[in-house]
Parts: sequence; C-alpha cells; structure tokens
Amino acid sequence: MRRVKNPFLLKGYLAKEFFCDRENELRVLYENITNGIDTTLISPRRIGKTGLILRFFDDLKAKKWGECLYVDIYASRGVEDFIRMLAEAILLKFPEKTNIGKRFMYFLKGLRPLIGYDALTGEPQIQIVFHSPQERENTLKGLLDFLDRQDVPIVLAIDEFQQITEYPEKNIEFLLRTCIQRLKNIHFIFSGSRRTLMLEMFSNANRPFFASTQYLTVDKIDRERYASFIIRLFEEYGKEIRREAVYEILDWSDTHTFYTQSLCNRVFAMDEYTITIEHVKKACADILEWTEPAFLQYRQLLTPIQWNFLIAVAKEREVRQISAQRFIGKYNIGTPANARRLVKALVDKELLLESVDKGGIVYRVYDVFFSRWLEREY
Ligand SMILES: Nc1ncnc2c1ncn2[C@@H]1O[C@H](COP(=O)(O)OP(=O)(O)OP(=O)(O)O)[C@@H](O)[C@H]1O
Ligand SMILES: [Mg+2]
Repeated sequence: MRRVKNPFLLKGYLAKEFFCDRENELRVLYENITNGIDTTLISPRRIGKTGLILRFFDDLKAKKWGECLYVDIYASRGVEDFIRMLAEAILLKFPEKTNIGKRFMYFLKGLRPLIGYDALTGEPQIQIVFHSPQERENTLKGLLDFLDRQDVPIVLAIDEFQQITEYPEKNIEFLLRTCIQRLKNIHFIFSGSRRTLMLEMFSNANRPFFASTQYLTVDKIDRERYASFIIRLFEEYGKEIRREAVYEILDWSDTHTFYTQSLCNRVFAMDEYTITIEHVKKACADILEWTEPAFLQYRQLLTPIQWNFLIAVAKEREVRQISAQRFIGKYNIGTPANARRLVKALVDKELLLESVDKGGIVYRVYDVFFSRWLEREY
C-alpha cells in the first residue's frame, strides 16, 4: 500500500486505497465506453467528479483498455483556448518519444505552433495563431480526427464542459457536435457542475448535443460506506476513531465529499491516538476559525437582504418550499416573488445549491463550512 502522511486527500486522485466507493458509477462508465455510449457526468461542485474520472482512468489502465485523456476547460474563454488545452492534453498524454507523440508533433508542426514547457510542472504549453475562424474550425476537427486515426480506443474526458456555453463563438456546440459525430474510436465523458446549463445543453431538442449521451449523476457517497472507509484508513495508519465520532464527521460535513475529506484530514492530523466526538467538535471549530476570513469577505459582496436569506437557509439546513409562507414569514423575507428573486441571484453566484431529488427541489447553502458558520454565528 502506498503511504502518505495524511490519507484523507484534499485534491486530485492518488490511488484506489484513498478513494471511497463509487462502484456503481465506475460500472456505468465502463458499460458506456464498452458499448460506444458517451456520458454526461453531473454533480454539484466538490462532490467528486474529477476524482471519479481519474479513478476510472486508473481502472482502464489496469485493464489495459485504450488510452485516457483528461482536459479541464474551466479556465478557457473561447474556442482558441479550447483548442490549445486539447492540444496540450494530447502532448502531455503522448510525449514526443512515443509513437503517437511523434506523429502528433508532425501534425502540430503544420500549425506552426510555439511550444514551451512550464518551468515548474514540466507540462507542455502551446501557442497557435489563427488567421480566420475557418482555420480554427479546421484545427479543432484536425485534432480530433488525429486522435481518432491512432489505432487505439481513446476516452476523452472534458471537465467543466458547461464552460463552452460562455464562449463568444456561439457555434461551438454545433461545431463540436459535428466533429464528434464522425469519430469512431473516441469515447467522451462530458463533466460539469452547473446542472441547469448541462441539462439544457444535452436535453433541449434545439441544441446540437440533444440526446447524444447518457446522464450519470454523481451524488453523495453512501453514509455507511463512507463510515467504513474512514474507520479503515484510521486503522491502517495506526490510529483509532470511535464510530460515533465518524457519524459526527459525516453529519457536520453533510457527507459532501470535499468537506468530509477536509474534516477527516483535520481530525487525522490531531496529535491523538483515539478520536472521540469531542476531538471532532474541536476540529470543526478550528476549521470555522480558519475559514472565517473568506466568509466575512462574502458579506461585502452581498446585499444585507441576500445575506439574511443565506442565514435563513443555513439555519434550516435545507429548504424545500423556498417561497412558502412558513419559511418567508419565519425569516421576514417579504413576498414569494422576493424570495424567488433572491434564490435566483444566489444560485447564480453559486452561494446556494439547488438540487433535485425524488421529493422535488431542495436548497442548501452551497459551501458546507459556510453554512455551519452562518448557523453558528447568527
Ligand atoms: N470517492 C472519493 N473518496 C475520497 N475522496 C474523494 C472522493 N471523490 C473525491 N474525493 C476528494 O474530494 C475532493 C473533491 O473532489 P473533486 O475535486 O473530484 O470534486 P469535483 O466534483 O470535481 O469538484 P469541482 O466541481 O469543484 O471541480 C477532493 O479532495 C478529492 O480528493
Ligand atoms: Mg472537478
């Protein structure tokens, strides 16, 4: 087993043993690629989309199944960025010394790029100058066709895919969809956290990607599985944690992966052999103390009415009927129309999380620590 100082990771993916569950999701992803179905992966921020993709790639590698590419387009602002990021991901995956890498370099040279390597990470950085939209389109098509021609199946995961809806080039969806339709060897995973934007793109009959993929919603990890995972990691690292302390962690962090991992990481780092509920409570207080400056900053960015609305939701923990009298009356929110306006503004700012379950729409404060802090302070 791989050893790290603290087994509760706070970013990325390292190895299976530090990754909890997701067996169903992994099975669906595998079934999809082996049946030629592309996947749209949707979940709120920090639930574990990126981790799941990398964990899935690990499985494929073990099975010696094709080649896996990952592109995060969060920072992209237009088609040129998209092309650059895709080219960089290809070069990172297939360095010049590999066969595909050699062929790719040959292909790239035709575009007269400037290629450099980041001094810190060693990752490739590519600049390509385009003289017309047509040139851009041809390059995008060329890159995807290039991958398709290599005699291996390829999984291409595009993370933060909703970003393309912000591009100034409004034909990007049409362009991508047209390119993708002709490919034979590339399987796509489109991942994103803006549920409405993603659903609109893939479920609206007027949009190019309509009904072209299968949805996979990533929810919170099952509570009992998460509990066993936490207990196992403490044991394997020579520590002990009481079961009720584990449940306290899961409740306080709302089983929202990043927040649960952060709290576990903090608790694990304590200089204690046996962790009890009291230790967990102390760790929660520490976390709120450290994160407080960011929360105070939010206050500057919001109107007093928006701020009070967040406090109200935090105190309720979750609200289903957000414009119902029971809620708006209790917290002096005003009219139902007011409540709806506030919800829209706060959802757009990603301060409120709107999710849908079998019971309908549910609202929570997006950042779990912020929610706990509001609940405690007000
Ligand atoms: N199944 C898991 N078991 C343990 N830790 C996980 C798991 N999935 C994700 N994590 C951890 O949770 C945190 C959030 O995961 P990740 O970055 O994958 O979320 P995300 O949904 O991609 O978030 P964002 O939308 O902000 O990009 C990371 O610290 C990651 O290491
Ligand atoms: Mg991510």
